[in-house]
Formats: sequence, C-alpha cells, structure tokens
Amino acid sequence: MSRLIVVTGASAGIGKATAKRFAENNDKMLLIARREERLTQAAEEIESSVPGADVEPLALDMSDAGSAELLRSHVGSIGLPVDGLLCCTGSLPPTDGEGLVSVLAEWQLAYQSNVLTAVIAVEGLLPLMADGGSIVLYSSIAAYRGSSSGTGGYGAAKSALHSYVHRLANRLGPRGISANAIAPGYIADTDLFGGGLSPTRETMLIRQTVLNRAGEPANVAELGFYLCSQHGGHVTSQIIQINGGSHHGT
Ligand SMILES: NC(=O)c1ccc[n+]([C@@H]2O[C@H](COP(=O)([O-])OP(=O)(O)OC[C@H]3O[C@@H](n4cnc5c(N)ncnc54)[C@H](OP(=O)(O)O)[C@@H]3O)[C@@H](O)[C@H]2O)c1
Repeated sequence: MSRLIVVTGASAGIGKATAKRFAENNDKMLLIARREERLTQAAEEIESSVPGADVEPLALDMSDAGSAELLRSHVGSIGLPVDGLLCCTGSLPPTDGEGLVSVLAEWQLAYQSNVLTAVIAVEGLLPLMADGGSIVLYSSIAAYRGSSSGTGGYGAAKSALHSYVHRLANRLGPRGISANAIAPGYIADTDLFGGGLSPTRETMLIRQTVLNRAGEPANVAELGFYLCSQHGGHVTSQIIQINGGSHHGT
C-alpha cells in the first residue's frame, strides 16, 4: 500500500531528490516550498522521470504558523495518515552586513529558516502522523564545526535541531514514531549557496573529505528513505552525518 510522505523544501536540491526517491517507491508525495512555479516544475520533473508518480505540489512558506495550519488542513483533507515527514527546508542567512543589526538579522533568519520551519511543520502534522511513522530533520556539518561565515548563526541554528530531535523521539517513542536528523557535509547541485560557491571554496570543501568528492543530493535522499523504511524503524533519536569523512577531515 502506498504511504503518504510530506517533504518540505522539495523544489530543489536534497528535498527534490528525496521526493523523487519516495516517488520511485510508489509513495504518495506532498511537496512543499515557497515559490510555486519552481515547485510545480520540480513536481513535473519527478512525474516525467518516474512513470505513475503521485506527486502534489503545495506552495507554502513554512516559517509562518498560518502555513502550518494550512498544511495540516490540506493533509487532513487527503484523509490518509502521514507515514513520513522530511523537513528539508533551510537556508544560509546573509552575513555580509555590519553592526549589531546585521548580527541580529543573521541569527533571526538562521533560526527562522532552519529551525522554525521544521518545528511548526512537525508540531502541525503530529496529530496526523501514522503510528510507526518517521520524522527526519536536516542539520549540517556546520552544527559540529561552526559555520564558516558570519557570526555563526547557521551552525548554531542547526544544532538546535539536535536537541529537538531527541525531545521528539522521546515524546513519540510510545507511538512507534522515529525522529532523526541528517547532518550533511558539502552536497553539490543544490541551491543552498545561491549564486554558487567560488571554485576555491568548492575545492577546499572537497579536499576536506577523505573521499575527495562532494556528496550528491541522491546520497542524502537514500538515507532519508532508509530512515522512513521498515528496516530503518529502530533508528531513532540519532543525528546521522553524511559528509565523505570531512568532519574528521584530511
Ligand atoms: N547543500 C548542502 O551542501 C547542505 C549541507 C548541509 C546541510 N544542508 C541542509 O539540507 C537541507 C536542504 O538543503 P539544499 O542544499 O537542498 O537547499 P536548497 O537547494 O536551497 O533547497 C532548499 C529548499 O527549501 C525551500 N525553502 C526554503 N525556505 C523555505 C520556507 N520558509 N518555506 C518553505 N520552503 C522553503 C526552498 O524553496 P523556496 O526557496 O522556493 O521556498 C527549496 O525547495 C537544508 O536544511 C540545508 O541547510 C545542505
């Protein structure tokens, strides 16, 4: 029987690859992101590469509590419990300003985009989660190393998700629901870095891996898929790093 899987941040990068991976398993997919055109395009791409894929795009800004309410009522109208919720939303806050106002903006945006988008999606959908379902949040190697730009808001925000995952696992264990976070290192072919990384910075990130290569969105997608599978069901309250060994580095 096909499962209902909700992926936020599904119009690009890791989220789009994740949605495609579940679609290949004949799961029923609900895809969320802010920009409608790009989201619809992502859904169409998945439908054309996965024959028979059941993919619905729903444009919402997940940093807004009203959107979380809309998401909940939309999912309620589908009439199926949520088997998997993967919160791939996230972004790097601008760090090029000066003074305390820009420090505040960096930390507020980091928290809003990387923490609150996940928290309100999860809390909004919890009553509709299937017993035995799975929640996956997306942290970063920056939570371990500290962000390499600005005053560190991004890495600090990602580490807040670790604490939230442990709390969720504890709360939801009695319902058989797992909660984990995936912490990727550098993953190529995403929009996270806006206009892209400079060749020097990209080379540096790749050299920090022991495998001497960047990760691909599909690598991270496969891990999310596993965590939502029956085999992955005993994994909970974990932060799983996927970074080509670059946490320890060369
Ligand atoms: N790429 C990497 O190297 C890397 C490394 C470590 C961790 N990560 C983490 O992995 C996750 C996925 O990253 P990615 O590289 O795939 O990024 P991406 O390519 O930039 O995709 C981000 C997705 O999130 C959506 N989004 C952002 N803010 C949103 C909001 N408020 N409401 C709804 N949707 C929102 C974006 O679409 P819209 O802008 O249209 O909303 C897009 O679909 C993020 O949490 C990121 O921090 C990535």
